[in-house]
Amino acid sequence: MDARLSLFGRFLFPLALLLLDGSVLFQTRALDVEVRDEDNMTCLYAKLMVNISIKYETQEDTYKTVAFMLPSALRYDGSTCGNETSGPMLAVEFGDEHSWVISFAEKADIYQGIITFTYNTNDAQLFPDAKRMGLVTVSANYPPEAVKLDTVYSCRSIETIESDNVVQEIWDVTLQAFLDQGAQSNIETVCDKDIVVTTTVISTMRITALAVTAAANTPTAPPTPEPPLPPLPTLVPVEPPATGSYSLSDHSVTCLLATLGLQLNISQKVPLIINFNPNTTVASGSCGSQVSVLTLTDDRCKVDFVFAVKNTTIERFSLTEVNITVIESKNATLNAANRSLDYWDATVGSSYMCRKEETLAVTPGYKLNIFDLKVQPFDVKDNQYATAQECLLDDDAVLIPIVVGAALAALIVMIVVAYVIGRRKSYAGYQTL
Ligand SMILES: *[C@@H]1O[C@H](CO)[C@@H](O)[C@H](O)[C@H]1NC(C)=O
Ligand SMILES: *[C@@H]1O[C@H](CO)[C@@H](O)[C@H](O)[C@H]1NC(C)=O
Ligand SMILES: *[C@@H]1O[C@H](CO)[C@@H](O)[C@H](O)[C@H]1NC(C)=O
Ligand SMILES: *[C@@H]1O[C@H](CO)[C@@H](O)[C@H](O)[C@H]1NC(C)=O
Ligand SMILES: *[C@@H]1O[C@H](CO)[C@@H](O)[C@H](O)[C@H]1NC(C)=O
Ligand SMILES: *[C@@H]1O[C@H](CO)[C@@H](O)[C@H](O)[C@H]1NC(C)=O
Ligand SMILES: *[C@@H]1O[C@H](CO)[C@@H](O)[C@H](O)[C@H]1NC(C)=O
Ligand SMILES: *[C@@H]1O[C@H](CO)[C@@H](O)[C@H](O)[C@H]1NC(C)=O
Ligand SMILES: *[C@@H]1O[C@H](CO)[C@@H](O)[C@H](O)[C@H]1NC(C)=O
Repeated sequence: MDARLSLFGRFLFPLALLLLDGSVLFQTRALDVEVRDEDNMTCLYAKLMVNISIKYETQEDTYKTVAFMLPSALRYDGSTCGNETSGPMLAVEFGDEHSWVISFAEKADIYQGIITFTYNTNDAQLFPDAKRMGLVTVSANYPPEAVKLDTVYSCRSIETIESDNVVQEIWDVTLQAFLDQGAQSNIETVCDKDIVVTTTVISTMRITALAVTAAANTPTAPPTPEPPLPPLPTLVPVEPPATGSYSLSDHSVTCLLATLGLQLNISQKVPLIINFNPNTTVASGSCGSQVSVLTLTDDRCKVDFVFAVKNTTIERFSLTEVNITVIESKNATLNAANRSLDYWDATVGSSYMCRKEETLAVTPGYKLNIFDLKVQPFDVKDNQYATAQECLLDDDAVLIPIVVGAALAALIVMIVVAYVIGRRKSYAGYQTL
């Protein structure tokens, strides 16, 4: 424990920074540094490439964009391993008072950084004709998603980070903060984009397949090499959608969890059935104490799920609003929303679960088919689902007594009827005699 604490530099007062043997050895213009504490233990390791482009207003009231790579002639004053309240920080200064700082925080089993970039429009070399002179600061989370502790964040692809007038492109990244015993982990957290390289191929293939299907349906149509928006599938997919797991986090802490397979059923002239592909679906939204929103976006389809806490003595939540948007073609967007729903009711602090397929009617023409559902929109602790309240459909335990009871009742009725008929017959027999 002591080792870990000193590693984090939390109880060390004079925080020292030591850089590896100079940047000469490293790839030109790439940031490749270690931040070490006074025991010469690494608390932060970062190797990455950054391109920055800044849009600024000129004296002629027009906008210009200046683009440059984070230069290799850097000063690192102010980099630190942190203390008991703040995590490690790499502070890079360059040129005329420009600075690029990434500071990390950990929570539960994850860590994430914030890039704070300050540029000085007094720098006549970069901003020769800037209208306003002075320092401008922008900040953004980086990596975009929090990283599991004791893993190295790795991203070969270019990640684009936009904040106000600044666009940062970051690639060839290997970084880790909060190193265990100063040693770089051999487990990697690979960025989504690096994984998506294969899924992009899948989705391109999917689109190609759709285009081929469309062409097959209308053989007279001239072949279009790359249609900007291929037609949506109108054929009904027989197979259910794959189940995806999604989460939202607030300040790097998971605050919403959802696992489900999602299928749209939109009734038009030709019914539209669309499966969400978890590999390409992006989750976004927000968490609140009373309202949480989960938005799932796949390709041209978007579904917003709005969860709200009800005004009852024992706090319960439910899915109160759903908004479905499908971009059908360049000038046709299908949209339906219903703000007075009441699905997936459970007490706050627990999760809601349904193993059977559920159909949620949003509006008469727009339905969601939900598969393998588990969701917790409030009070998520430690990145885990709390105990689940199950949907009625799942309760086979309820169905069995009902079936058995009904069978018993039917049997009793039959016995009574048989008895009554039997008595009548014997009575009638006596009379005729
Ligand atoms: C810190 O560690 C590095 C490499 O592990 C070594 O080159 C350097 O001399 C050490 N510095 C001190 C002050 O111990
Ligand atoms: C980064 O910027 C440099 C110079 O502006 C440019 O040559 C290079 O192509 C850029 N790289 C990326 C990945 O954008
Ligand atoms: C911890 O570090 C932060 C930033 O470096 C600083 O603002 C803060 O005063 C420090 N806190 C303590 C208790 O040293
Ligand atoms: C889609 O909705 C229509 C109309 O309600 C229904 O007839 C059809 O069975 C549904 N299809 C699926 C796959 O849920
Ligand atoms: C998602 O990706 C995995 C692994 O690449 C693949 O096995 C699976 O078939 C994909 N799912 C869909 C629905 O494309
Ligand atoms: C909600 O609760 C408050 C008191 O906690 C009560 O005054 C209010 O009438 C309730 N609203 C509804 C719609 O039940
Ligand atoms: C539904 O989503 C669309 C697209 O994001 C938006 O324009 C529309 O206002 C939303 N409708 C409702 C009722 O929230
Ligand atoms: C879309 O708009 C174009 C003209 O902007 C029109 O020719 C085309 O018929 C429209 N398509 C649909 C499906 O409305
Ligand atoms: C919204 O859902 C409610 C409850 O299912 C339903 O009564 C209402 O008709 C729906 N509204 C629309 C516009 O379809």
